[in-house]
Amino acid sequence: MNSNFLWGGATASYQCEGAWNIDDKAESMWDHYLHENNLENGDVASDHYHHFEEDIKMMKDGGHNAYRFSLSWPRIIKNRAGDINPKGIAFYNKLINCCLKNGITPFVTLYHWDLPQYWQEVGGWLNLDTSRAFAHYAEVCFEAFGDKVKLWTTFNEPKWFTVNGYLIGNYPPAEHDLQHTIICGFNVMYANALAIQKFRQGKFQGQIGIVHSYSPIDGIDDTIETKIAMRNADNYANNWVLDTAALGSFPIDLLAKLSETNDISFMKPDLLKTIAENKVDFLGLNYYARTLVKPYTSGETKMVFNNSGKKGSTQMRIKNWFEQVMDPNSEYTEWDTEIYPKGLEDGLIRAYQKYHLPIFVTENGVGFHENINVNEVKDDYRISFMNDHINALMNAQDKGADVRGYFTWSPFDLYSWMNGVEKRYGLVAVDFSTLKRKPKASYFWYKKIINSNGKLIERREY
Ligand code: BG6
Repeated sequence: MNSNFLWGGATASYQCEGAWNIDDKAESMWDHYLHENNLENGDVASDHYHHFEEDIKMMKDGGHNAYRFSLSWPRIIKNRAGDINPKGIAFYNKLINCCLKNGITPFVTLYHWDLPQYWQEVGGWLNLDTSRAFAHYAEVCFEAFGDKVKLWTTFNEPKWFTVNGYLIGNYPPAEHDLQHTIICGFNVMYANALAIQKFRQGKFQGQIGIVHSYSPIDGIDDTIETKIAMRNADNYANNWVLDTAALGSFPIDLLAKLSETNDISFMKPDLLKTIAENKVDFLGLNYYARTLVKPYTSGETKMVFNNSGKKGSTQMRIKNWFEQVMDPNSEYTEWDTEIYPKGLEDGLIRAYQKYHLPIFVTENGVGFHENINVNEVKDDYRISFMNDHINALMNAQDKGADVRGYFTWSPFDLYSWMNGVEKRYGLVAVDFSTLKRKPKASYFWYKKIINSNGKLIERREY
């Protein structure tokens, strides 16, 4: 492991900050949707807004040398006119300074899903003005924090919020509309390019990338039908984000397939040109699991996501695209996430061979129901998960992939979107009623791993 390797944890503003209406923060789309529907929300979450010094100190004491977090757009920009909220800027200056004081490199994401509600009210990501406004917000952040932040990412997981928001419907704005899904995906990738353009034009120092929810695709066999299903699944899950950000264009066969059923004439040449001219410097890949697929050519499309923690409720079958299947030989969590470290090794190698860009593993972790009312949470399952995935990362490095960092999701317990706070990912337990923090066994294990720069990882081939 290179001595500059980044070891840290990742969080997202909405999932940990709380303070949803404090210091002139505007409402986000998630605030609005969860309040309207009376659902468990992140109003308080881990209250990182008021505990960030303690949390960052805990990271430092745990050996971390980097912290990936996101900025909240509605905390920084007050309205559609683009007015800046000085209190939002002040908060993030404090947070970034605290990182630097503790020897922690800030790794900043501009958008982790908390769209300002004032933009959602005029169409959100279906409206190109939102993409332009994102570029303005990005520029404000580069100017405010660019002297201290050198590693930026535009979006966290365009695929996840686009598909969940507009196709599966389990995230706001909770639609089931393929045309809207395509428009949202396009406008987000255009916004990514516009923000990169601002970064280059302003000659800000450092590097800018994008974070993708990377699910490498495997097939159940070697037949030509399965290979077609794999390509469809790869276009659906990965290529429209990664190819577009790294190579500057959407996969041509994806556009051809979409145009059979949908109108894609809104993808105008000047917009495509901006996308082609503004590519990322590196890739952030979040890895939770691979996708194993088989062909699916008859029957209805069915997309159900497991937010209940009840095993076996996931269904992902898209007619004439692919069907996701479970591997009978694999272990799955209660949320139907396969535990498959080899997928990380394969994925890092595939992504590096295809894009030739530096890669950071910007999220990797596992969520469980955990009883935290004990002296120390003995999360051996998380230790074993992390060992096997860091091992997979190191295997990929050994085989030539340029992987420069690993961020565990998450350094402390936080709010897990539609799964609420019951699905815990943290290395530090947060009691959500008292907001007290207590390290789990995995925190101390990770510290030893970091201090050895990975040498204490139990190595094996898959
Ligand atoms: C990633 C997101 O998709 O996975 C995080 O970037 C998210 O925001 C994490 O919390 C785990 O997913 P979930 O739904 O279990 O919280």
